[in-house]
Amino acid sequence: MKMRELGKMTPEERTTTGAALNRLKDEIDTALRAKKEALADAALNARLESEWLDVTLPGRPQRQGTIHPVSQVMDEVTAIFADMGFAVAEGPQVESDWYNFDALNIAPEHPARQEHDTFFMARAEGDNRPPHVLRTHTSPPVQIRALQERGAPIRVIAPGRVYRMDMDQTHTPMFHQVEGMALGKDISMANLKWVLEEFCRAFFEVDNVELRFRASHFPFTEPSAEVDIRCSWDNGQLKIGEGDAWMEILGSGMMHPKVLAAGGIDPNEYQGFAFGIGIDRLAMLKYGIPDLRAFFESDLRWLRHYGFAALDLPTVFGGLSK
Ligand code: DAH
Repeated sequence: MKMRELGKMTPEERTTTGAALNRLKDEIDTALRAKKEALADAALNARLESEWLDVTLPGRPQRQGTIHPVSQVMDEVTAIFADMGFAVAEGPQVESDWYNFDALNIAPEHPARQEHDTFFMARAEGDNRPPHVLRTHTSPPVQIRALQERGAPIRVIAPGRVYRMDMDQTHTPMFHQVEGMALGKDISMANLKWVLEEFCRAFFEVDNVELRFRASHFPFTEPSAEVDIRCSWDNGQLKIGEGDAWMEILGSGMMHPKVLAAGGIDPNEYQGFAFGIGIDRLAMLKYGIPDLRAFFESDLRWLRHYGFAALDLPTVFGGLSK
């Protein structure tokens, strides 16, 4: 209002009154700003006081997540073999027909292809190449890919998922294996026997483990052996290391020269052993879990019952399972 009146004043009056009015305006602006800041500070202080948090209070009771038995057993197996100088290798779960079969000396007409109940990937129309497969075992990442990538001598294991069309109390379409391989100038079946015994002793946490090697056949090993472990079944309770029963736990053998050649290794220079173990089966045996299908149903009650504490990493010296 006062500003508007300036227009009617003489030039002299306008100079003095205008300056006074501007000063007044500045004073009002400053006062308003100060009040605004004071109000904001007061609000912040009030909030800080009302939302005070005692960080020294103990946490509220909470349910901790647990480690799945399959992950636990993979960690245990990895810890044991790492202790014996084995590195961990990986490979794709969608494999070419060559890596999954041919390179492992399983020719297209070989009956083992049927036994593997393979899942085939869809092919584009007009593509006549053999379809890719969901890998049926962990042999390809260890026996072929690791050889091609790392050469010899070599010691590796590959824990991982594998797929077969099968479903009952002890079979699911997806399950887990660990494949192992040691290759050198003079590695023999005796080394295989010691490594597997050492593994079983550490894994089952019993001193008096006894293994039985039974002649068998796998296309990728020669000679081949299936390995049984001495055990007893007492009222359905499995005891490893004692009793009159034998239970098959893995397949193994000396690597076939054709497999070495497929991996780019001269079979006249190097020799070694390989083995394949079912991880889920190891978990069922060691922790007394009766039905494999429950492993993959994501039932929280099951997971809480059979799961493992998250921070207890298994080590050979610190203890595998606590
Ligand atoms: N690949 C075999 C399977 O899935 C398991 C196996 C047997 C692996 C003998 C090996 C072996 O390395 O020597 O049935």
